[in-house]
Amino acid sequence: MIASRGFFSRVLAGGSAKNPRVALLLAIESSCDETAVAIVRGEPGQRTEVLASEINSQIALHREHGGVVPELASRNHSLHLRGLVEMALLDAGVRMAEIDAFAATTGPGLASSLLIGSTAAKGMACAAKRPFLGINHLEGHLLSPFLDQTSVPPHVALIVSGGHTLLLDVDGPGCYRKLGGTRDDAAGEAYDKVGKMLGLAYPGGPEIEKAARAGDPQAYDFPRSMLHEPHLDFSFSGLKTAVLYTLQKQTGELPVADLAASFQQAVIEILVRKTLRAAELTGRRRVALSGGVSLNQALRAAFQQAADRAGLEISVATPALCTDNAAMIAFAALLRHLAGESSPLDGDIHPNLPLV
Ligand code: KG4
Ligand code: ZN
Repeated sequence: MIASRGFFSRVLAGGSAKNPRVALLLAIESSCDETAVAIVRGEPGQRTEVLASEINSQIALHREHGGVVPELASRNHSLHLRGLVEMALLDAGVRMAEIDAFAATTGPGLASSLLIGSTAAKGMACAAKRPFLGINHLEGHLLSPFLDQTSVPPHVALIVSGGHTLLLDVDGPGCYRKLGGTRDDAAGEAYDKVGKMLGLAYPGGPEIEKAARAGDPQAYDFPRSMLHEPHLDFSFSGLKTAVLYTLQKQTGELPVADLAASFQQAVIEILVRKTLRAAELTGRRRVALSGGVSLNQALRAAFQQAADRAGLEISVATPALCTDNAAMIAFAALLRHLAGESSPLDGDIHPNLPLV
């Protein structure tokens, strides 16, 4: 049956949501290689409750290829999504009919992966006649340190993930100003590439962190690119190349621990110094870290120490919220939903979507 024009345009506009007071929201994250579904409940000024947060990680699947294979990722998203939605409803103890709004990551990310999650969420929103919200993956990361808080205070945000290294001035939810970003590799990407060079498993970040614990961070003096330039941009490709040249000159057994520790020391120093400078320039008294690389214990400790010295507050997401997950997408969507926003059902995905 062909839907009448009136019905179709109503559906395409999404259900309406005029500043609801309490909302139950289901969100899907499928921008890369994690399929995730979360259900949250929230109301303005209250702590958001994560009722369920399910993840099917594809890391083991992609490990044998040394990185993410887009077609494998999207096929596995579609295989696991339905089961994860059912599990989330069961864990949350709610019925599909009780969900007030549906959300999904619509960018940035792999096009074929984004399409699976966003199409599923739109389908559920359409069937339930509820609003749909397309969420920027980076906004999910950015807000994740505040998921268990009652508000998002003004701060300088550092998002460090596999695809992004971004410094932002944050006035509150939705009010972001870019201060700097990477001009080449993201910090996580550098970790992954150096991990590969050192013969470590994918993803390189956690493996380098492990190897670095037994190494000397002063063993090699790797470059800290752009550290003394006045802007707040980053560059990690020179550091990656410096590790490669050092490796090529090695004879005998590779000093993996020392190389890992020295590489990590350079990354940490760059991230900490640039972020603290951003706080100084903006006058913000709080810095927040998010994204997969912010799981790194040495990075967290260095930030804590530097913030203590500078008299700054620091906010870091709980470990489960650092790497890709749907709870952070649900939280970002909830704030927008409670503010009366929704997205059209005929909106596209945006693989290169910027945050600002
Ligand atoms: O946020 P995320 O899960 O995905 C993206 O949005 O990219 O971040 C994944 C990145 C990978 O590059 C991974 O190597 C890095 O986070 N990562 C780490 C650690 N755990 C994950 N990097 C350094 N230390 C870690 N412990
Ligand atoms: Zn991410």
